[in-house]
Amino acid sequence: MLLPEGVVIDGRTGSVTPSTDRYEKRLSDLRGFFRDDAALDRAIEAGGDPIAYEVFDFRHADSDLAFGTTIMMPGKVGVEFYLTRGHFHLRKECGEAYYTQSGEGLLLLESRAGETRTVEMKPGVCAFIPPDWGHRSINTGKDKLVFVWFCATDAGHDYGAIKDRGMRKLVVERDGKPALVDNPNFA
Ligand code: PA5
Ligand code: NI
Repeated sequence: MLLPEGVVIDGRTGSVTPSTDRYEKRLSDLRGFFRDDAALDRAIEAGGDPIAYEVFDFRHADSDLAFGTTIMMPGKVGVEFYLTRGHFHLRKECGEAYYTQSGEGLLLLESRAGETRTVEMKPGVCAFIPPDWGHRSINTGKDKLVFVWFCATDAGHDYGAIKDRGMRKLVVERDGKPALVDNPNFA
């Protein structure tokens, strides 16, 4: 039987204590998600294949609710800010919430019909991700972007659609500021 417990989440580091799982994605794991492959090669070479983001989970198969953190490093590949892979949930009725703890970023969302929306990520904003909207987070700041996510345990991740054709918009640095631009590679 699962028992109640208090899980300690550090809003600066994103650590989750206790956590049930953790993974990290390095730049080399994100090949195909950035616009510019040559810039990705240069960033991997220059930075020794740095970690782009880490995810901590608190997840139990016997509970319908899971939560955890995502910790995104600051950085760019060419002009494009570090991003997560982005996904739809396998279970289309499953939404999600992203509650930003520190840093600044943009949550980029795309409906199945191709509509784009963004939600600013900054401390105090809890972003609502409706069911069946693809979502990717982007660190547009100079520090770590840390957010807590809450989701159905069995929502599942469908990476295929976004990996294969990209998202319609990219978030790049333009004149020292983040800008949302069309993705020239969108298939
Ligand atoms: O479930 C979520 O939406 C998050 O936990 C993400 O999985 C996490 O932010 C990493 O992003 P992605 O799974 O798109 O690589
Ligand atoms: Ni999700």
